[in-house]
Amino acid sequence: MNIVVLTGAGISAESGVPTFRASDGLWEGHRVEEVATPEGFAANPALVQEFYNLRRAFLSEVEPNAAHLALAELAARWQGDFTLVTQNVDDLHDRAHQQIMPAAGFSLIHMHGELLKVRCTRTGKVMDWHSDLQPYHPSPFDPSGYLRPHIVWFGEIPLEMAQIEKALSECDLFLSIGTSGNVYPAAGFVQLASMAGARTVEINLEPTVGQNLFSEHLYGHATEVLPPFLATL
Ligand code: OAD
Repeated sequence: MNIVVLTGAGISAESGVPTFRASDGLWEGHRVEEVATPEGFAANPALVQEFYNLRRAFLSEVEPNAAHLALAELAARWQGDFTLVTQNVDDLHDRAHQQIMPAAGFSLIHMHGELLKVRCTRTGKVMDWHSDLQPYHPSPFDPSGYLRPHIVWFGEIPLEMAQIEKALSECDLFLSIGTSGNVYPAAGFVQLASMAGARTVEINLEPTVGQNLFSEHLYGHATEVLPPFLATL
């Protein structure tokens, strides 16, 4: 039996990472267009680099929670294919997996990029990065390029879509955890899984806009409802 899991900001909320869609419509005080679009970066690289510098530095203050760990445990013991697709740019799934079973391989796809990676604006080459970026940070890959956060901004294409769609087309169980279902293409994954005949489960604090697309629902805090649910699999 093959499993695809999609996670969103809600799974990291109990680790202390803020979710996106707070009631004021701002991301930590900024309009989305300012800090999460190519146009925003071109208009004010200092603001955008600082925004992600702060979020990158904040990762050292948070730890994986029981929901991340329960998923890593499932991945380690699962016999069929296990694909974890996260919209989150934090590294909490990665660290949970390292803690549980560093040697075991499974697919972890950061479809919206990663805070701990940066990309050359000229060549598209990606490298690990743990410190701050300057507004016009020279790229080691090309003298005319700069380093930018390896984050998929609005108007850019999510990463690894072919691999994700293949996994969805072959899955028997699809779990959507802690995502509001507002951002496509991730919000449409449940329909691809349904077309493949999969059982589809929404796990969230509350019903989302896409609740009717799921065959089952589990509402509550991810750290409380996810471990017992995964233990039944
Ligand atoms: P949102 O902030 O839109 O939604 C977070 C969801 O998590 C909400 O539906 C909450 O009800 C739920 N939630 C909060 N706390 C929870 C908890 N403890 N347990 C379970 N659920 C909880 O975040 P995303 O759906 O991840 O994209 O947002 C999708 C994308 O929008 C992000 O990846 C980001 C943003 O644009 C990019 O940066 C490209």
